[in-house]
Amino acid sequence: MEKTPDNETEDGKEAIARFFHVFKKIGANAVLEDITLDIMRNQFVFVSGPSGAGKTTLLSLLYLKDKATQGNIIVDGQNLSRIRRKQIPAFRRKLGIIFQDYKLIPTKTAFENVSLVLEAAGAKKKLIQKKANAILRSVGMEEKGQAYPLSLSGGEQQRIAFARAVVGDPEIIIADEPFGSLDEESAASILKLLNGYHSRGATIILATHDKELIKKRGGAVISLSHGRIQQRGNYTRGHREGSL
Ligand SMILES: Nc1ncnc2c1ncn2[C@@H]1O[C@H](COP(=O)(O)OP(=O)(O)OP(=O)(O)O)[C@@H](O)[C@H]1O
Ligand SMILES: [Mg+2]
Repeated sequence: MEKTPDNETEDGKEAIARFFHVFKKIGANAVLEDITLDIMRNQFVFVSGPSGAGKTTLLSLLYLKDKATQGNIIVDGQNLSRIRRKQIPAFRRKLGIIFQDYKLIPTKTAFENVSLVLEAAGAKKKLIQKKANAILRSVGMEEKGQAYPLSLSGGEQQRIAFARAVVGDPEIIIADEPFGSLDEESAASILKLLNGYHSRGATIILATHDKELIKKRGGAVISLSHGRIQQRGNYTRGHREGSL
């Protein structure tokens, strides 16, 4: 995407996602309040904060599950409050989303859940087979391709959800507690895959309340508390390095 005034920050860098004074109310509940932030292209950003802080809600605004009550969100130069319905499928194809509750389609097999993404993008059958099988292999689920989600464990479903999110090589990977159901070994291997997508150019936005993970992995951190940004920081090899 070319730089436009909408995605170029004041210091001339390219922001892939920008929030300007975003508020989100659900009923009478103020879930997000006055969120202003920039996520740069190819950044690895953690959204942290305790349960109920608003992490999932913030991510859901990015992929248009919901609209902000007030304020503007710009993703890859597109103002989400002005996006047209017919533009939404193409917009969503830029995103790979790992939902906190997986959201796999229960009537489709693991393989079908993953391959649907490629079908929607118009890929040929042979390529779909190849790519879907390769990604299932990389998350250690090659033998469970024909299984239905409800016959899988939480951790297995989460690995399928990861595979589905990344199989189309999205520009932006939005991961909501992607290790929540994984044992240490699977979490490490999924993190390694995620790091691979990051090093090949993807922007990663990862919501977690796992402070140890943030310290270990390092990266930019936006901490939420009661729907507000409480802190912005940057962790490098276990050390917090001031404000962003
Ligand atoms: N549909 C809804 N109706 C009413 N309140 C909601 C709704 N969805 C979220 N909320 C409220 O918004 C707040 C933030 O929820 P959110 O799911 O974004 O938190 P979170 O930081 O992702 O928490 P967790 O770590 O538990 O996943 C919570 O107080 C929650 O009760
Ligand atoms: Mg959440």
